[in-house]
Amino acid sequence: MSHDLVRLGVVGLGGWGKFVVRNFSQRDRSELVYICDSNPFTLKQHQSLYPQAKTTQEYSDLLEDPSIDAIVIATPAPFHFEMVKAALNAGKHVYVEKPMTLTSEHSEELVEISESRGLKLMVGHLLEYHPAVAKMKQQIDSGDLGDVHYMYCQRVNLGVVRQFENAFWSLAPHDISIILYLFGQEPTHITASGQSFLQPGIEDVVFATLHFPDGRLANIHVSWLDPHKKRSMVLVGSEKMLVFDDMAASEKIRIYDKGAQFRNDTAGALQAINVRHGDIHSPHIPGTEPLALETQHFIDSILDDFTPRSDGRDGLRVVRILEKVEQILHSEVPVPAIKVA
Ligand SMILES: NC(=O)c1ccc[n+]([C@@H]2O[C@H](COP(=O)([O-])OP(=O)(O)OC[C@H]3O[C@@H](n4cnc5c(N)ncnc54)[C@H](O)[C@@H]3O)[C@@H](O)[C@H]2O)c1
Repeated sequence: MSHDLVRLGVVGLGGWGKFVVRNFSQRDRSELVYICDSNPFTLKQHQSLYPQAKTTQEYSDLLEDPSIDAIVIATPAPFHFEMVKAALNAGKHVYVEKPMTLTSEHSEELVEISESRGLKLMVGHLLEYHPAVAKMKQQIDSGDLGDVHYMYCQRVNLGVVRQFENAFWSLAPHDISIILYLFGQEPTHITASGQSFLQPGIEDVVFATLHFPDGRLANIHVSWLDPHKKRSMVLVGSEKMLVFDDMAASEKIRIYDKGAQFRNDTAGALQAINVRHGDIHSPHIPGTEPLALETQHFIDSILDDFTPRSDGRDGLRVVRILEKVEQILHSEVPVPAIKVA
């Protein structure tokens, strides 16, 4: 491999893959060598957009090309495991879209192969690269919000209704990855409920709560059967509260100097709840496209040899939670709470 350039092959140029390939084609320190899609019409559309790249319908062409250093996989989730495994075994670094695989067993195997072969494995947990999420992380770690008590996320919309995965597998990987990134710990228990209205056994709406060892809670509400398009997160701390609204054109983050405290008087006799309503502040959030930051991060991780933020282990942690929620939803008896580890 040339030490100043990553030569890329991209497979899967569909609804999301078209953005992924566009971003990779625009990155510094990289070259788009091959594009691949099994659909000839999709491939042809992209041929004119990326005339510098070779085209193929056969994934094996990418695996067998010794000039390719890294493979980017944006095919549907059921194909991820076999395609990532084949790429790693061919000695290629891999970027794969979320969710990394459909079982934690498969994710564990991929982590093991990538680590034993010294190859980068990065998962497309896009929002971990969102400048607003970086701001949220900074607010938490600096202590500005005080102790974070709980957070909740809403990712709801009308459509896209998937047929091979439920709304949780489709939408929640983003929320789970952000929650784990922000809290820097894994939940001990999960509670969840959901319902299938459109297709039997495929939940359209899911409410899941992650319970953390220090008492923090994180609730995730996802749905593709909802009148609103919402992409929001609320963090409630002991000192301040923060709202991230990714649908807002500006002021995506608002920090509310609000809180409530339970106080004793000096003699310890009287008790009162003090509610504080202070100022609202909206910090500047850079407008950089998260996918641009994420794709550059992958290239830099190879050339500068660091572990990507959303590495295979991060992908595995997210898949474990997706799997546990699925287990609760499909259990024949109601499950009050399920242990994660
Ligand atoms: N990060 C995000 O925000 C985000 C958003 C949407 C989708 N995604 C993820 O991206 C992935 C793709 O989703 P999508 O909505 O683009 O799917 P899609 O069905 O629109 O596109 C998939 C493409 O892969 C091609 N393909 C399938 N199998 C192939 C194979 N064996 N060889 C070559 N080409 C093959 C298909 O022809 C199609 O063009 C999924 O993992 C999805 O979860 C991520």
